[in-house]
Amino acid sequence: MTTPVIRSAGPTDAPEIVTLLRELGYPVELDGVAATLRQVRDDGGTFVAVAADEAHGVLGLVSLSCRPLLRLQGVAGTIEELAVRRDARARGIGERLLRYAKGLASERGWVRLETTVARRRDVTRSGFFESRGFGAADRLTYRWSRLESSHPALPTLEPARPRELV
Ligand SMILES: CC(C)(COP(=O)(O)OP(=O)(O)OC[C@H]1O[C@@H](n2cnc3c(N)ncnc32)[C@H](O)[C@@H]1OP(=O)(O)O)[C@@H](O)C(=O)NCCC(=O)NCCS
Repeated sequence: MTTPVIRSAGPTDAPEIVTLLRELGYPVELDGVAATLRQVRDDGGTFVAVAADEAHGVLGLVSLSCRPLLRLQGVAGTIEELAVRRDARARGIGERLLRYAKGLASERGWVRLETTVARRRDVTRSGFFESRGFGAADRLTYRWSRLESSHPALPTLEPARPRELV
């Protein structure tokens, strides 16, 4: 495999992004992902980048969002999704996507970059983020999932899937 380039994602990447997200266990649909990529394109606060090469197409992605927070007196960024195709892992693509996220955060002057990962994920056990400069925060995430269940088009995770992304 050649070294993939990292570039902004657009709606035409939707089919390959669907394949990647499905591999992780998300029951996403092409129309929904393409529509979301169009929203990202028109939204100044969200970013999606892919790692892709000519021969294999999209091998990985990182998506980010940001919002201003009063208590930080600045903008905080979140890595919403970071994923690499199973057959392309352990080649440094995840590391490069993470560096892209850090670069974007620095360039935009964000005061914090964070991500939420399920405790049981391999990436949590392997200390992937800790060994790349991230500290673990002692926090719990509370969700009001009523919104998800009342939105028929929103993909929801099957609770028992071992490959849950967040
Ligand atoms: C986390 C993830 C993005 C890393 O991608 P990657 O391209 O494999 O990352 P790199 O090659 O840069 O580094 C791989 C790390 O995993 C370890 N690793 C080794 N073999 C591996 C394998 N077959 N699969 C996964 N990780 C492996 C490496 O040791 C390395 O960690 P280290 O350098 O700290 O030792 C990828 O494993 C993934 O998509 N996981 C599922 C989704 C997820 O958990 N995302 C993060 C939360 S949002």
